[in-house]
Amino acid sequence: MLNPALETLNDFPFDRLRSLLEPLRPPETLDPLMLSIGEPKHTPPPMVAEILHSSAAGWGKYPGVDGTPEFRRAVADWLTRRYDLADGLLDPDTQILPVSGTREAIFMIGQAVVPRRKRGHRPNVLVPNPYYHVYSAVPRLNSADPVFVPATEKTGFLPDFTAVDPEILEHTALAYFCSPSNPQGSVADVKVLKNAIVLARKYDFVLAVDECYSEIYMGDAPAGALNACAELVNETVGVMDNVVIFNSLSKRSSVPGLRSGFVAGPADIMKVFRRLRTYGGAGVPLPTIDASTALWQDEDHVAESRALYCAKFEAAQEIMGPRFGNVMAKGGFFLWLNVGNGEAATRRLWTQAAIRVLPGAYLSHTDEYGKNPGTEYIRIALVHDLATTTEALERVVKVL
Ligand SMILES: Cc1ncc(COP(=O)(O)O)c(C=O)c1O
Repeated sequence: MLNPALETLNDFPFDRLRSLLEPLRPPETLDPLMLSIGEPKHTPPPMVAEILHSSAAGWGKYPGVDGTPEFRRAVADWLTRRYDLADGLLDPDTQILPVSGTREAIFMIGQAVVPRRKRGHRPNVLVPNPYYHVYSAVPRLNSADPVFVPATEKTGFLPDFTAVDPEILEHTALAYFCSPSNPQGSVADVKVLKNAIVLARKYDFVLAVDECYSEIYMGDAPAGALNACAELVNETVGVMDNVVIFNSLSKRSSVPGLRSGFVAGPADIMKVFRRLRTYGGAGVPLPTIDASTALWQDEDHVAESRALYCAKFEAAQEIMGPRFGNVMAKGGFFLWLNVGNGEAATRRLWTQAAIRVLPGAYLSHTDEYGKNPGTEYIRIALVHDLATTTEALERVVKVL
């Protein structure tokens, strides 16, 4: 007997893409280029291999779920520097935990904070629409109702939780928020983040803020939820009350294979999240923890990588601008392009240009009126080097 909830997880974007393109062939004269997956391809900083080697004795130990004091301190210091926080605002020992990449943490937080009932009702989970697909699985597997909140051009490509019916908020247990966002590349300012946090506290739900793309931006460094938390703190409210933040080295340091991220949140939530991980989570291996500690302490490699992304966005603007107008994202490394019909464009790009992209509809939910906010879009990942990206985008404009 299988868990029937798992049968609802049948919309994994990359499975759908495979089915869409399976019967089709790219032109034999062109090398296929994969712009569908958001897998960073910049060279990982050499210190990663060096530290994994020098810390190799750690492979012989089971890692605990807490990481090391040095890791937690490095993360707290990074957050303090990055968001210009007062020293001592964060407690590394009760408010920060390492995770084996944030995907599993973003998923597991649902088990930690979604109760069976919220104020006598089946709980709601707010999911921005379009979304990073993991959010949409969480209500389904935690006996909750998903509430898809538009994050479209009309709302600045961010979800506006203040527009959600208070009756729904009353029964909301968890809300996901992503900035810089995947797939739209939008960035929330402190005011938007404050509004979401105030609502989370008023209606007592957990605001899960996914900041995995926080270090890849085109203009000013994006604000983070902690900027908003710091502005809202007072004698009665703890700095992180109701707010859990996720960040990762996958994008910041171009090490998606290292599987290393962190979760930061208030001590009460971190305590249950930690307990959950002691049963069902994989501790981050000690050599990985040591390499991660050094990565959070270093900004040079991050600035170098960011400059490469900026150069690719500038190239994208030059190549795509005449056809599509402004294609620059504020953050992250995706182009979110309105092409009229995302699936049709994806098929044409594959059969005519050997370019693989992702239809926006696969990252979005169809609402009760039959409208899917991603239908007209494709998502293009600018993860390759500049020359490859330039060639790929030139092929894209030729077809579209
Ligand atoms: C928005 C967003 N959040 C979280 C993740 C998970 O990243 P990781 O598990 O590598 O930390 C990704 C990865 O693509 C993402 O796009």
